Parts: sequence; C-alpha cells; structure tokens
Amino acid sequence: MSAPNETFLLGERLFSPEDLSSIVARVAGQIDADYQGVGESLVLLGVLKGALYFLSDLSRRIQAPHQIDLIGARSYDGTQSTGAVAITKSPDTDLTGKHVIVVEDIYDTGRTLATIEDYLRRHEARSVALCSLFAKRRGPVFPANLRYIGAEIDDRFIVGYGLDCDEAWRHLPYVAVLTSPSIADPS
Ligand code: IMP
Ligand code: MG
Repeated sequence: MSAPNETFLLGERLFSPEDLSSIVARVAGQIDADYQGVGESLVLLGVLKGALYFLSDLSRRIQAPHQIDLIGARSYDGTQSTGAVAITKSPDTDLTGKHVIVVEDIYDTGRTLATIEDYLRRHEARSVALCSLFAKRRGPVFPANLRYIGAEIDDRFIVGYGLDCDEAWRHLPYVAVLTSPSIADPS
C-alpha cells in the first residue's frame, strides 16, 4: 500500500496532544472571560475542515452557552496558497445579530479569515472575532481582530490535529512539520 502522500515526509513534532490540550484550555478561558452573559447569541463558527478537531475540543472547554456552526472556505492546493479564497459551504443557521467567533486551524496570509469576516459583516453578525489555533509569523504584528491565537509558529507547513496536506495527515493526534524528501536528512 502506498503512503498517503509520497512527495512529503513527516518531520519534527511541534505540539504533543498534551500541548494541544493546554492551548485549548487557555483559549477557552480567554473566550469565557470575554463573552460572559451573552447567552445563546454566541456562535463558534468553525472553518471546514481543518478546524474540526480544534472546534470540537474548544467547544467542550468553553463554559459560556454557545452554538456551533460550520463554514467552508478553500485557498490551498497542496502546500501552496492559491491566492483566491472561495466560500464552499454557507453556515446552516442565520447569524444575523449573533456574536460570532470564527474558529480557524491556522492563520497564514489572512485571506481566508478576511473573506469569512466580510461574509459575516454582509450577513449582519452582531460582532465578529477571529480565533486561530496557529498563526504563522510573517510580519511584525497580527491584525487586531485576530483576538485569539493558540500558538505562533515559524513559516513552515504543519499537519495533524485537523491540518492537512491534500487531505492527508489530518487525523494525527499531534502536530508535525511536513518536509520534502529532497531537504530531509538523508542519514
Ligand atoms: P490564509 O488564507 O493564507 O490565512 O490560509 C489559511 C488556510 O490555509 C488555512 O485554513 C489552512 O487550510 C491552509 N494552511 C495554511 N498554512 C497551512 C499549514 O501549515 N498546514 C496546513 N494548512 C495550512
Ligand atoms: Mg483551513
């Protein structure tokens, strides 16, 4: 049987299941502190499919009452950003008047979250905050609306805990760097 993706190898493990669990607990605590008392008008909107594992764990850690929904967006082909972001699935619930926290797996160029934020403004969400499990350090600062960041990482391609490369490796319980055989240590 061939490997799921033969042109890449799993490299350094950056986050263990325990690391991920404590990141989720910290972000949940921040959200609880910020959204006390907003009741059922709080919605966690996960971005398919990469944020599924994070959304599921985060939702179970947040004590404030909330609903969950999903939105589809796609910008990557393999390890390359295509530059254009398409909304591939609309949320099922009406988000008008809701406090929405967009839950994403990783913030890279910011185009995906900008596109989703624009969608939510057009659908008249009451407030929009952005939450990303990971954020790649590309510039000196992240935008102010990226309110919750689980962990900052260097500009490397990572997989696991929902993050994929062409649909492979999402199911890993840890997060690892993806390397190309040509740059891997041959020993
Ligand atoms: P952005 O629109 O450039 O911010 O890209 C964000 C999207 O690209 C994420 O939702 C991921 O699906 C994908 N992506 C970016 N970097 C990585 C990575 O290192 N591993 C897996 N997916 C990534
Ligand atoms: Mg994604």
